[in-house]
Amino acid sequence: MKSENLVIALTKGRILEETLPLFAEADIVPTEDVFESRKLLFDTNLENVKLMIIRGSDVPTYVEFGSADMGVAGKDLILEHGNNGFYEPLDLRIAQCRLMTAGPKNFSKSSDRLKIATKFTNIAKQYFADQGKQVELIKLNGALELAPLLGLADCIVDIVDTGKTLKANGLEPKQLIAEISSRVIVNKASMKIKNSTIRGILSKLRVAVSKSIS
Ligand code: PRP
Repeated sequence: MKSENLVIALTKGRILEETLPLFAEADIVPTEDVFESRKLLFDTNLENVKLMIIRGSDVPTYVEFGSADMGVAGKDLILEHGNNGFYEPLDLRIAQCRLMTAGPKNFSKSSDRLKIATKFTNIAKQYFADQGKQVELIKLNGALELAPLLGLADCIVDIVDTGKTLKANGLEPKQLIAEISSRVIVNKASMKIKNSTIRGILSKLRVAVSKSIS
């Protein structure tokens, strides 16, 4: 079988700690400790496969434009980016959490336009539009939970895992927008051109995921 060169973009941080064991189970192992190095592009045990390690929000961009053939990114960032240019063939079932609306306990505001703070402005815009609600979106990049406390926004749209961050800031989860986990995405052109290599990796990853959840 001919082995085409392949670049896989992985999300750095906590997702990476859960991604690497699955890749190791699928026989893809970086040749150095990615947590110790400042490098962004790593060789692996497979001569034709390289791993890029970047911010999650950049993974869909690299894969859409084909600079990376495949990637691992949270479903939240995939939804926010939009899925033009790539397929999403596999749920790795890691980094599972929920994308939710959240706000102060007993909050009710029916007349004025709700002010929503979020880093997921595209998702929030679509979600509230689907509900026929007029909202004002305020883009923040972190510490969203402060926005209702300080009067910047009425509610937030954010990732909820344990719910501790919301609780510690006097907020509670309201509506579920989407169940989130990390997904493998594949550039559409790469899927055609490098089909056998990519299918081989996907099938090994599929087995690794089944083992990890059994
Ligand atoms: C996420 C999210 C919440 C927190 C929720 O932030 O934005 O702040 O986790 O987790 P919990 O429900 O278990 O308390 P993260 O720590 O990923 O950092 P970020 O703000 O950089 O996304």
